[in-house]
Amino acid sequence: MDRTFSIIKPDATKRNLTGAINKIIEDNDIKIIAQKRIKLSKEKAEGFYDVHKDKPFFSDLIEYMTSGPVVIQILTSDNAVKKYRDVMGSTNPENADEGTIRKAYGLNIQENSVHGSDSEENAKKEIEYFFNEEEIVG
Ligand code: CMP
Repeated sequence: MDRTFSIIKPDATKRNLTGAINKIIEDNDIKIIAQKRIKLSKEKAEGFYDVHKDKPFFSDLIEYMTSGPVVIQILTSDNAVKKYRDVMGSTNPENADEGTIRKAYGLNIQENSVHGSDSEENAKKEIEYFFNEEEIVG
């Protein structure tokens, strides 16, 4: 089983959608093997999104990601990175397919309800950025 890293973002926690999003995840045969509800500090959010630091949307992104609680998760399934990206749908909810999380709940390209790792290498890094191995019960 492979692992991927997920964030349920502030737009979704504000609208009480954690359970609804987890249901879509689980209905797609993906297991949630670790989960924490936290408030990201500015420093932690900036470190996480470091690859985007030169993008025009970076400061808005950090403000948004620190604007309320997030739920960070480790997910497992066969081919977890790709599978969860398919379940999330396109970054821009306007382009997301029916049945995906972002189609159902995303508000716009920034407030798109969920994050998922984009490669196995990044999944490993992102999991290590937020979780200790003893917090994971596989
Ligand atoms: P995520 O998959 O977490 O990766 C980077 C995040 O930046 C993305 O989801 C969105 O929340 C946000 N984002 C990506 N592209 C844009 C954009 N063009 N304008 C504003 N926010 C964006």
